[in-house]
Amino acid sequence: MKTKVTELLNIEYPIIMGGMAWAGTAKLAAAVSEAGALGIIGSGSMTPDILREEIKKAKKLTSKPIGVNILLLNPYTDDLVKVAIEEGASAITFGAGNPAKYIPELKEHGIKVIPVVASDSLAKLVERSGADAVIAEGMESGGHIGEVTTIVLVNKVARSVKIPVIAAGGIADGRSMAAAFALGAEGVQMGTRFVATEEAEVHEEYKKRIVKASIRDTVVTGAKLGHPARVIKTPFAKKIVEIETKDFEEAERLLLGSLRRAVLEGDVKSGSFMAGQSAGLVNDIKPVKEVIADIMREFEETLNHICEEKGTWLGG
Ligand SMILES: Cc1cc2nc3c(=O)[nH]c(=O)nc-3n(C[C@H](O)[C@H](O)[C@H](O)COP(=O)(O)O)c2cc1C
Repeated sequence: MKTKVTELLNIEYPIIMGGMAWAGTAKLAAAVSEAGALGIIGSGSMTPDILREEIKKAKKLTSKPIGVNILLLNPYTDDLVKVAIEEGASAITFGAGNPAKYIPELKEHGIKVIPVVASDSLAKLVERSGADAVIAEGMESGGHIGEVTTIVLVNKVARSVKIPVIAAGGIADGRSMAAAFALGAEGVQMGTRFVATEEAEVHEEYKKRIVKASIRDTVVTGAKLGHPARVIKTPFAKKIVEIETKDFEEAERLLLGSLRRAVLEGDVKSGSFMAGQSAGLVNDIKPVKEVIADIMREFEETLNHICEEKGTWLGG
C-alpha cells in the first residue's frame, strides 16, 4: 500500500509506533519495523549512551528503517539528536514543541523530521520550519496529551498543512485507521495497541490492565500540574487527580518515576499505567506482526464496505 507516508519513510504500511518512554524499547521497535511499519525507540527514559545501545540492538534485529522519539523538554536533547544521527536513525518524531533548530542538520543526513502536534497552529509552524510530516495527536491518546479530540484535530490539521499528516490517539484497529484516513491522514501512529503485544517489554500486569480496560477506564492525571497525561484509572491515578488541586508538591512527588514503576514493576499501588481510550478496543495480547496484518485487513474491508454500502445509503 502506497501513501505519502510509506514513500517518505520507505515502509510497507502507513503505520508508525508511538514514541514511548520506558515502553519503546529496541525489541518492540524492531518487531514493528520488521512487520512493515515504522518502529520507534522512545528516548524519553534514556541517556544518550543508552539510546546508542538501543539503536545498535534494534539494527541487529532488523535491517528495515528504525526511528527515534525525542522529547524536546529533555535536557539531553542535543546529545540524543547527535546519537540518532550517528547511529543512522531514519526518522525522528519530536514531542513537546518545534524542533526547528535541529532540522537543517537532520535534513543534511536524510533523517525525516516528524513533530507531534496538538493544534493546527503548531502544525503550520513546524511546516514552515521544514518538518517532513506531522503527527496530529488527539486527547484520546495514552501518555501526555493536548486538549482536542483526534476527530477534530486531524481534520483541521489536514486542511491546514501540505505535508503529510499522521493521526494519533484512539487508533487501535482497521476501522479507526480508515476513519483517520477519511479525515485526511495518510498514516496512523499507535501507542497503546503496541504495548499489548508479545514483544512489548512491559510488565505483564501492564498488558493485562490494557486488555481488561473498557473505553471509560482511563483518566487524565497532572492536568492541574500543567502536564496532563492519560493513564489507566487505578486507585493511585484517582488519588493523584484528587490531591493535585490541593497539594501540587505532593502530587508531583508521587508522580515522579511512576511510569517506570508501572512498566518495569507492574506496580499498581504507585505506578502510572499510561494508556489511551483505545485500550477499550484492545482485547488481546498478540505478536506485533499479527496486530499489523489484522489492522491492514480490517482497514481494507472497511474501505470496501463503505464504498459498497454507499449506493444503498443514497437509495441507489
Ligand atoms: C506508555 C506510553 C508512553 C508514551 N510516551 C511518549 C513519549 O515518550 N513521547 C511521545 O512523544 N509520546 C509518548 N506517548 C504517546 C504515544 O507516542 C502515542 O502518540 C499515543 O499512544 C497514541 O495514542 P494511543 O495510545 O491511543 O495509540 C506515550 C504513550 C504511551 C501509551
